[in-house]
Amino acid sequence: KKSRTRLVMGNWKMHGSLAANAELLTGLRLGQADPAVEIAVCAPFPYMAQVSVALAGSHISWGAQDVSAHAQGAYTGEVSAAMLADFGCRWVLVGHSERRSMHGESSQLVAEKAVAALAGGLAPVVCVGETLAEQEAGQTAQIIEQQLAPVLALGAQALAKIVVAYEPVWAIGTGRTATPEQAQQVHAGIRASLAHAGAQQTRILYGGSVKASNAASLFAMGDIDGALVGGASLVAQEFLRIAAA
Ligand code: G3P
Repeated sequence: KKSRTRLVMGNWKMHGSLAANAELLTGLRLGQADPAVEIAVCAPFPYMAQVSVALAGSHISWGAQDVSAHAQGAYTGEVSAAMLADFGCRWVLVGHSERRSMHGESSQLVAEKAVAALAGGLAPVVCVGETLAEQEAGQTAQIIEQQLAPVLALGAQALAKIVVAYEPVWAIGTGRTATPEQAQQVHAGIRASLAHAGAQQTRILYGGSVKASNAASLFAMGDIDGALVGGASLVAQEFLRIAAA
């Protein structure tokens, strides 16, 4: 675990404005750089220029929340990996549960987006997670395996550049976090699948109602390498406290 640098990433989702972002970004820049943890934020597309200017030269990197599976062309409304790279993005979320459930994204498409991201020089953060019904039916491991399968098939070289985020759908925005033990169990399973595919160093983040008050106990688990933070990433002090944890 020690060799994997911790990563704490904010997912702003569809929140923010020029004014609100300016305040948040200023607050984030005030935080101390700590070599033991990488900090990043994933902003809405229209604010990428603002974020890139505000965070240039800081210890905080940035990314987007989605990317097209296509490199360029007649894809109205889509944004390519190269466009995001133009704005200094280092990361892009792919397959967030909100995109899987509300925009019909399949695990195959998510893997294609990961490939497009890598081709454009971005690191994809592949999000997986089971619904409450699936969890209650004891299907968590099987669902995660299905969601990851097309990504694992990309091979060890690709997997070395990818980040996996485990976000149980029932914990997203609900205030109900997975217990550290629950999350660790799933992370250990993902770790085993990654190792089987030849990836030893891939970071696995936990997401779902992470707050400053529960971050440390999650980060104490052997296979939790950081967090993907929604709501709590919109308040600079709270987000920085999570990173400090
Ligand atoms: O991608 C992060 C996310 O889905 C978790 O959201 O608000 O529960 O931290 P939240």
